[in-house]
Amino acid sequence: MALTFRLNGDDVLIENADPSSTLLDWLRDVKGLTGTKEGCNEGDCGACTVMVTDKRGSKALNACILFLPQLHGKSIRTVEGAAGPGGSLHPVQQAMVDHHGSQCGFCTPGFIMSMVTAHTNGATDFDDQLAGNLCRCTGYAPIIRAAEAASSAPVPDWIADETSFTFPETLRGEAAGQRAEPPSGKPAAAPPLLLPASADELADLYSANPDATLVAGATDVGLWVTKDLRHLPQMIFLDGCTDLKEIEVTDAAVRIGAMADMNALRAAMEPLHPSFAEMLRRFASQQVRGAATVGGNIANGSPIGDTPPALIALDATLHLRKGAARRELPLEDFFLDYGKQDRQPGEFVEAVSFHRQPGALRVYKLSKRFDQDISAVLGAFNITVEDGTVTAARIAFGGMAGIPKRAAHAEAALIGQPWTGAAVQSAAAAFGQDFTPMSDMRASAGYRLETARNMLSRYFAEMNGAAVSVLEVRP
Ligand SMILES: Cc1cc2nc3c(=O)[nH]c(=O)nc-3n(C[C@H](O)[C@H](O)[C@H](O)COP(=O)(O)OP(=O)(O)OC[C@H]3O[C@@H](n4cnc5c(N)ncnc54)[C@H](O)[C@@H]3O)c2cc1C
Ligand code: FES
Ligand code: FES
Repeated sequence: MALTFRLNGDDVLIENADPSSTLLDWLRDVKGLTGTKEGCNEGDCGACTVMVTDKRGSKALNACILFLPQLHGKSIRTVEGAAGPGGSLHPVQQAMVDHHGSQCGFCTPGFIMSMVTAHTNGATDFDDQLAGNLCRCTGYAPIIRAAEAASSAPVPDWIADETSFTFPETLRGEAAGQRAEPPSGKPAAAPPLLLPASADELADLYSANPDATLVAGATDVGLWVTKDLRHLPQMIFLDGCTDLKEIEVTDAAVRIGAMADMNALRAAMEPLHPSFAEMLRRFASQQVRGAATVGGNIANGSPIGDTPPALIALDATLHLRKGAARRELPLEDFFLDYGKQDRQPGEFVEAVSFHRQPGALRVYKLSKRFDQDISAVLGAFNITVEDGTVTAARIAFGGMAGIPKRAAHAEAALIGQPWTGAAVQSAAAAFGQDFTPMSDMRASAGYRLETARNMLSRYFAEMNGAAVSVLEVRP
């Protein structure tokens, strides 16, 4: 099958696309659209930002870690398409000129596309919208001023048209359930494109091709290709499985589809568990959050993935599927050992769910840099206190062991005790029995352990009404 999408208003059809080709390489090397820059080639700098629109709306994404098949059926705007047909500047471009928002200019195309996307979406939280774009010479003040100045201008017609694109109803990949063959009549040079359009199709396709690499948002897998230079002989792209993108909130429970991205999760958590949502605001950057999925964050088994400790503290259940067979397990049981998860060949994460519960969850992310940084330690605390006594406790950490892990000794030390500073101190001491953290470039073992203890004290202080966020504490 061929890939189709729209690029700066023109339809594009790519026969026999290499599934592991990135959008950035294709734009620059094949299309000669060199306005989109390569800075880091790993999702960190935003120089390669483009706007990608589908039925769900417009997102700023990093082209360096987007594989071409992830664009199937979508509409892409690069910096070359930011200005109007007659060359009239987009309001954010004009504002960048007016406010002196560019010096060397290398970062500018990426900033422009993040600003165009924010402007299209009516987003005005500019610090967050632009945290994934690095500028090393202009400084952020003029850029933020430009974004603010442009915010009241109407969305230009050529950008508004982007959302009126007729997106295909269904994007069907190779016949579900069949072992994939190269497209007939085409040279066998490029592997087949495997683009299931639903969880059912994915289940059949993955059962038939259990050695394939699943690609969700590609914010991990992309780096295997761009940085580790790995060859992935067969990839299954999950982006067309729109049924896996749903987040269902009922009076009883919350069910998060594996393909829900971090921005969608953040929006869903805001009214339920605002501390979880606030942590997600600091998960990578706007561009990475728009691609990174909950399923990918769990399935990669990383000990420093940010969502697993929070979900474990919420007593979440993981929903796995292999063909027609489904099974459920407590999320914490999925992580067996470093790099080892309880997942069979051909089995994938379908969803994660948890019961609605009182808002006692607090999630604390400690990283060297406030925005867009991987956690050194992430602590999630969910403690129930009734009549002054702790009746239940779920405490989980990332960055303290080879897997996301509960603090069983500390929890046991708390349950049945009065909710006092003294009880909290003795529970904090028990972290030494729960964890033997490692020292690495992010933090030493001693620092991690001390931080974990301080986070429990912070939780106690916060639950007793103290202002504990660095954004709230003022001299
Ligand atoms: C610049 C940058 C910053 C980052 N910052 C953070 C951060 O702050 N916090 C954090 O936790 N992570 C961070 N990450 C890591 C990454 O964004 C997350 O792990 C993300 O959630 C991965 O999701 P994805 O959809 O991109 O997964 P992918 O890269 O598509 O896949 C990751 C792994 O999961 C598998 N997989 C994907 N979906 C499924 C499924 N449904 N079932 C089974 N297997 C599946 C894939 O085969 C692969 O092994 C960052 C990454 C980058 C590039
Ligand atoms: S080149 Fe740095 S994020 Fe893509
Ligand atoms: S203007 Fe030089 S890096 Fe931003």
